[in-house]
Amino acid sequence: MLNTPAPRDPVITESERIYGRAVEVIPAVTQTLAKGPGQHVRGISPKYLQRGKGAHVWDVDGNEYVDWCMGIGPLVLGYADAAVDEAISRQLQDGITFSLMHPLEVEVAEMVRELVPNAESVRFSKTGADVTSAAVRLARAFTGREHVLCCGYHGWHDWYIATTDRRGGVPEAVVEETSTFPYNDLDALARSLGPETACVILEPVVFEAPQPGFLAQVQSLCRQNGTLLVFDEMWTGFRLALGGAQEFFGVSPDLATYSKAIANGMPLSVLTGRRDVMRLLDRDVFFFTTFGGEALSLAAALACMRALRDRNVPARLARVGKRIRDAYNRIAESLGIAAWTRCFGMDCRTIVTFDAAAGDPLVTRSFVQQELVRRGHLWSGTHTVSFAHGEAEADRLIAAYEEILPELKSAVEKGDVPGRLRGEPVEPVFRRASNFDTKPCRT
Ligand SMILES: Cc1ncc(COP(=O)(O)O)c(C=O)c1O
Repeated sequence: MLNTPAPRDPVITESERIYGRAVEVIPAVTQTLAKGPGQHVRGISPKYLQRGKGAHVWDVDGNEYVDWCMGIGPLVLGYADAAVDEAISRQLQDGITFSLMHPLEVEVAEMVRELVPNAESVRFSKTGADVTSAAVRLARAFTGREHVLCCGYHGWHDWYIATTDRRGGVPEAVVEETSTFPYNDLDALARSLGPETACVILEPVVFEAPQPGFLAQVQSLCRQNGTLLVFDEMWTGFRLALGGAQEFFGVSPDLATYSKAIANGMPLSVLTGRRDVMRLLDRDVFFFTTFGGEALSLAAALACMRALRDRNVPARLARVGKRIRDAYNRIAESLGIAAWTRCFGMDCRTIVTFDAAAGDPLVTRSFVQQELVRRGHLWSGTHTVSFAHGEAEADRLIAAYEEILPELKSAVEKGDVPGRLRGEPVEPVFRRASNFDTKPCRT
């Protein structure tokens, strides 16, 4: 077991110095909202990381943490995985981006086809938003319809961000063409579907598990309505099972989108789907981009997928993740606080929640985060387990929860959680963990 270090505020002078420069030149300061300073207790948490190895990271001031965020998903094997890094280095000797196609495009597409159930055809791009947008455009072209129903987070492009309150700059005509529906609510979905619905795009699971038969029923409602079904597997792909949620739940959508875990940190996203739909990409539906066939990411993806398969990674993620979830809930129950805090989600990716009954959930979460960062854990409410998180890292986190939750209980009972915060509380997360129905179209 790793020793639990005595709690201490990390020195974050260099983080703050760089941040001071960033606010002068980078609007919103961050390129990825979930990595920005609003998601970590200001004044206590580091803002910039320098280096990672396995499940551990070092900030720019030299402090070490066990990372439970893992690059917001991509680091499924852990930082600096030897097999992936060697594949990248080997490819680097030959080149990164070329003037003609590269054979890796074919090799990686064939491997994706082997692993992902609906992958009759495969295309690559760089970001999650690229491929969800390509899926939506394909669905519109295939069905000759325009309306999109979605459930989850799908990226920054117009068609999705239209459903949020941060849609400045999105034309009204686009806003009208996307609506949301609530997860695990077939009646609401049935009422939302119409002759205008081109596709239903959803994250097959975020934290709340699908009710038995939910995904199969979504598929059959879509089929009855002539609507394409798209699974956004950015989080579930190559993590829940090698073939993602499609394999795990046994439901194959018409189209599916992947990124994050496929290349252990290199920027690659994937669109998979039915050949007859994907064939529209031959000509009518335009989906091409300069870096789509960039070879370092493809080399990384090949090595990463092989490692995921050969090391049986999804089973390991599930085992370690389940242990953490069960331990958290056991500690909360033994303290009598399980009514207002619990850990839930699929084994490989779980979230800790705090009920308003215990005070402002943002303040409560901030307190737990503060105490975790003081014990060497980088945490923002979720456990994104990687292959590099062994029993030692799990033991260390559980030991920290055993210390922190009694402190939290006492602070809640005294109404003193805000008083125990040593920095500014975190801001609300933009990317929702539940209640996705922000822009319904039902009457
Ligand atoms: C489920 C899901 N879909 C789409 C996206 C967008 O991906 P990207 O940020 O790479 O554009 C994300 C990003 O986190 C995501 O979680």
